[in-house]
Amino acid sequence: MATKDSASKANATKQRSGSRSGAAPGALDAIKLLTADHRDVKGLFQEYQRLVDHDAEDDEKQPIAEQICAMLSVHAQLEEEIFYPAAKEAIKDPDLVDEATVEHASAKDLIAQLRESNPIDELYDAKVKVLGEYIDHHVKEEEGELFPQARRAGMDLAALGERLDRRRMELLQELGVIDEVSEEEEA
Ligand SMILES: [Fe+2]
Ligand SMILES: [Fe+2]
Repeated sequence: MATKDSASKANATKQRSGSRSGAAPGALDAIKLLTADHRDVKGLFQEYQRLVDHDAEDDEKQPIAEQICAMLSVHAQLEEEIFYPAAKEAIKDPDLVDEATVEHASAKDLIAQLRESNPIDELYDAKVKVLGEYIDHHVKEEEGELFPQARRAGMDLAALGERLDRRRMELLQELGVIDEVSEEEEA
C-alpha cells in the first residue's frame, strides 16, 4: 500500500506544478484550469481518507493535509482575485458569486484550524473530512451553476486562464511550494 500511496502523492505534486509547462500560451481556459484543480484536490482528499482507513501514521497524513490546505488556499485566492470579479460582472445570477465567496470563508476557517493543529488532535481527521464535504458541495455549485453561466456569458476564458496560471505560479512560489521559475532559463 505504501508504494501506491507514495505514487499517488508524487502524482498529485506533479499535477500541481505541471500546468506551467502543460499548456501552450493562449491554450488555457479558466474554467478548465479551475476544474482541474477541483479534480486534483478531490484526489488528495481521497488519498487522505485511504490513509485514515489504513490507520496510517500521523506523519504520513500530515503532508497530505498540508497539501490540501495549500492547494485550496491558492485556488480560493485565484477565484476571489481574478475569476469571481469577472464572473460577477458577466453572469446572469451574480448572487452565485457572493454565495461562493461565503462558502470560501467557511472553508478557510477549517483550513486555519487544520494549520494550527496536527493529526495528534483527536478532531483532525474529522476536520479534514468535513472540509472535503464542504468542498464537494462548493465544487458542485461551481461546476453545475457558476461555470456554465460564465461560459454562456461569453467571458474571455482564455485571457482569464492565462492570468490565473500566472498568478498561481506567484502564489506557489510565495508559499515555497515550487521553486522560483528558473527551470526554463536553466534548460
Ligand atoms: Fe473552485
Ligand atoms: Fe470556489
